[in-house]
Order: sequence, then C-alpha cells, then structure tokens
Amino acid sequence: MQILDEIISGKAKSLYRTDDPKRLVMRFRNDTSAFDGEKTAQLDDKGRVNNHINAFVMKKIEEGGVPTHFVKLLSGQDSLVRSMEMLPIECVVRNIATGSLCRRLGIEEGLDLEPPLFEFFLKNDALHDPMINDFHILTFGWATREEIEQMKSMTFRVNEILKKLFAEAGILLVDYKLEFGRCDGRLMLGDEFSPDGCRLWDMQTREKLDKDRFRQDLGDVVETYRLVAERLGIQIDH
Ligand code: CDP
Repeated sequence: MQILDEIISGKAKSLYRTDDPKRLVMRFRNDTSAFDGEKTAQLDDKGRVNNHINAFVMKKIEEGGVPTHFVKLLSGQDSLVRSMEMLPIECVVRNIATGSLCRRLGIEEGLDLEPPLFEFFLKNDALHDPMINDFHILTFGWATREEIEQMKSMTFRVNEILKKLFAEAGILLVDYKLEFGRCDGRLMLGDEFSPDGCRLWDMQTREKLDKDRFRQDLGDVVETYRLVAERLGIQIDH
C-alpha cells in the first residue's frame, strides 16, 4: 500500500489518501492544542503513544459490537482506516461531572452522574463547538433520525465496554467524545480514542491522566499517557 497526499490536517492528526480509494492513513502527530487552538505545543512522542492506545481501544470497541473505521495499526504514528463521510457532530458521554458541564450548569466537580449524561455538540471551531440537540440535527440535516438513535446507542455501548476496560486498569472513565461517519451504507465510529479526547482519573488518587494535564499545566503529559498505555497492557513498539 502506498501513502499518497495529505487530504485533511486537523489539530492533532492528519489523513492521507492511499492507492486504495476505500482506505486512508490516519497519522497521529505530536501537535497538541487546547482552548480552540489558543494553546498549542509539540509533545515529543505523543503521536506514537496515542496511535497505539487508539489501536488497542478501537479493537476492544469493535469486539464489543460497535463497528469502527479502524482497520489496522501500520507503524509508529500511522494507522489504516476506512474512508468515511463524517457527520459534523461530537457525541459526549459523562460519568463524572467536570469541565464544561460544571462551568455551564454550576454542578459540583467530581459528582457521580447516574444515569450518565449524553450531549451533542456541533463540530465548528469558529463557533466554538456549540451544544446542540436532536432537533437542530434533524432540522439542519446533519444526520437522520435513525442515525441520531444509532449515535446514542453506540456511544453508550462504548461506555459499557470502556468503563470496564479502564476499571480493570484502576482508571475511571470520567467523560469522552466520539465522532461518527457513514461507510458502506452504515454508521461507524470514526476519529480516535486516546487521552487527548477523554478524561481519565486514577481510581484511588483521582489524579488526572489525560489532556487536562496539558490544559492545566500539570506537566508530564506524554509520560502520563504512556502510563495509561502500560496499565492497559499495551506494547508500544519503537
Ligand atoms: O474540555 P472542555 O471542558 O472544554 O469540554 P467538555 O465538554 O467538558 O469535554 C467533554 C469531553 O469531551 C472531554 O473528555 C474532552 O476532552 C472531550 N472533547 C474533545 O475531545 N474534543 C472536543 N472538541 C470537545 C470535548
């Protein structure tokens, strides 16, 4: 397989066309950004660590019955994925209150959320990813009624799979963001799952093991991501 031109360059990942029109290469870069791109940095080795965490987690999600765009880990910072038509929507599930939920509703930080919360956001940097609901999605044609239900059920299924997976590693899955796309006539999970797009707390100490380390200048960002990989039993090749 040949890697051809870059077609999308996001804040932390790039997508490349390949000689197979149905497959793309997803490259996890070392670039890191927060607060709508206001704070950025290059974090040595982050791309490789996240590529390996994502590959491991996507396989677990697929085994748990949720179709994903992930095909296989290629090397270092690259994975092979299915080419999809992405929906401009972010799906967030929260098991513990923190972040924008606390700012928006004045909810106490660290509160257990039972049942967990589900929120839709519009993927639009210029508008700072505003919160939306099912009606906005239908009226503006961002997804069908059936796709809305599928996004909710798949995002909650991912919650069951990953809460258990992380709990076995002594880690709390606090919240996370998923994105979906259309491929071969059905909805599949796209994008990535890594400590860049979720919140993970140590079960005992509640120490932050995710991108909040970068957002809040807590230090040891990639070292902590590597620790998460190690606790999940992930081998990172050199
Ligand atoms: O990060 P912030 O407090 O602004 O947003 P949030 O709504 O509390 O984020 C909920 C979860 O979704 C966190 O795990 C974020 O890391 C993740 N998220 C993301 O990965 N990308 C976004 N554009 C928004 C949220």
